[in-house]
Amino acid sequence: MQKYRIGFIGCGEIAHMHAACLLDNGALIAGGYDFNEAAARQLADRFGGKAFADPEQLCQDRDVDAVYICTRHDSHVQYVTMAARNGKAIFCEKPLAMNAEAAAEAVEAVEKYGVPCVLGFNHRYSPGIAKLKQYLLEHQEQAQILHFQFVTAPFLKSWAGLQEQGGGVLVCLGSHVLDLVHYLAPSEVVQLQSMAVGLRLPSPYLEDAFGAVMTNEAGQFITVQAHDLGNRDFSTDPAHRINTVQAFIGDEAVVARPSQFEVWGGGRNVSERYRTDVLHAWGYQELNKRFLQRLSGENIDVPDVYAGWHAAKMVEKCRNNR
Ligand SMILES: NC(=O)c1ccc[n+]([C@@H]2O[C@H](COP(=O)([O-])OP(=O)(O)OC[C@H]3O[C@@H](n4cnc5c(N)ncnc54)[C@H](O)[C@@H]3O)[C@@H](O)[C@H]2O)c1
Repeated sequence: MQKYRIGFIGCGEIAHMHAACLLDNGALIAGGYDFNEAAARQLADRFGGKAFADPEQLCQDRDVDAVYICTRHDSHVQYVTMAARNGKAIFCEKPLAMNAEAAAEAVEAVEKYGVPCVLGFNHRYSPGIAKLKQYLLEHQEQAQILHFQFVTAPFLKSWAGLQEQGGGVLVCLGSHVLDLVHYLAPSEVVQLQSMAVGLRLPSPYLEDAFGAVMTNEAGQFITVQAHDLGNRDFSTDPAHRINTVQAFIGDEAVVARPSQFEVWGGGRNVSERYRTDVLHAWGYQELNKRFLQRLSGENIDVPDVYAGWHAAKMVEKCRNNR
C-alpha cells in the first residue's frame, strides 16, 4: 500500500492515539497544527513531520495526503470544509458537528468537493462489537431487544462539558452510542424518549449522564445508557467488562463487550475473548487501517459523513424528547 502522509488539525490526546495506529498501519505523519503550538510540536517530535503555523497551510501542503480533524467539537465543520476545499481526504473525529444543521453543512462541503470523509466511530470495530454485527447479519431472526451500556472515564469537566465547545454527554457520548445503535439496528427510529441528568457537575457544565428508550420500524425495543462516571483507569483499561451491548434473539441472549463475545441459551454457549489493549479493544487500530484502505481505493465499510450526520440528528432527537 502507498505510504499516505497524514496531517493533524488538533494534536491532543486522541491525535496521539490515531498517530500511533497510523504508523502501525504503514502511514507517515506529516505533522500537525494546533492553536496550542506546544501540542503541535509534541506530536511532530513524537511521531514525525513538522508543526504547522496555520491550518490552511497544512491543508494546502502537497506533502499531506489526508487531514485528521481532532479538535474541539465547535471547529469540526470549519476544518472539514477547509480540508474538503483543498481536495484532501478527511478523517473527522466524532461528532461531525454540534448539531444537525451544522452537520448538513459539512455533508454539503464533502459532496461538493468529492473527497472521502471518514468519521471517528471506532467502537464499531471493537472486536466483540464487530463479532456481534456479523452475528446479527448471519442470524435468520432479528434481535427483538437491544441494550447499550456506554461508559467512559470522567472527562466532561472540561471543554467537552460546555455548551458552546463540547455539548456535554449528549453530543460527546451520544454521538458514539447512537451511531452504534444505528450500526447494529439500522431500522429507522419511530418512537424515542430520552432523559439527561447532571449527577456531579456544577454549572456551567451540562449533563453528565443520559438514557434513551426507543422503538424502530423493524419493531425492535432499544435502551441506551451513557455516562462518564467510569473510574479514572478507563483510559488505560479498555473497560472490556463494563461497556456492553446485549441482544436478545429468540431464545438466545448475546452479550458483546469490546473484547468479549458470549451467547447464552439456544442450545449453545459461545464465549470468545479478544485483545484487551486500548488501541485494539476500542477499535482504533481497525478504523485507522480501514481509513487507509479506503484511501487506496478499496470498497471497504467505514463510517462516512452520512453516519456523522445521522448521529447528529439522533442526538438532536434525544435533546428534543427529554
Ligand atoms: N473516538 C473516540 O473514542 C474519542 C476519544 C476521545 C476524544 N475523541 C474526540 O477527539 C476530539 C479531540 O478530543 P481530545 O480528547 O483529543 O481533546 P484534547 O483536548 O486532548 O485535544 C484537543 C486539541 O485540539 C486543540 N484545539 C481545540 N480546538 C482547536 C481549534 N479550533 N483549532 C486548533 N486546535 C484546536 C487543543 O489545543 C488540543 O490540543 C474530539 O472531537 C473528541 O470528541 C474521540
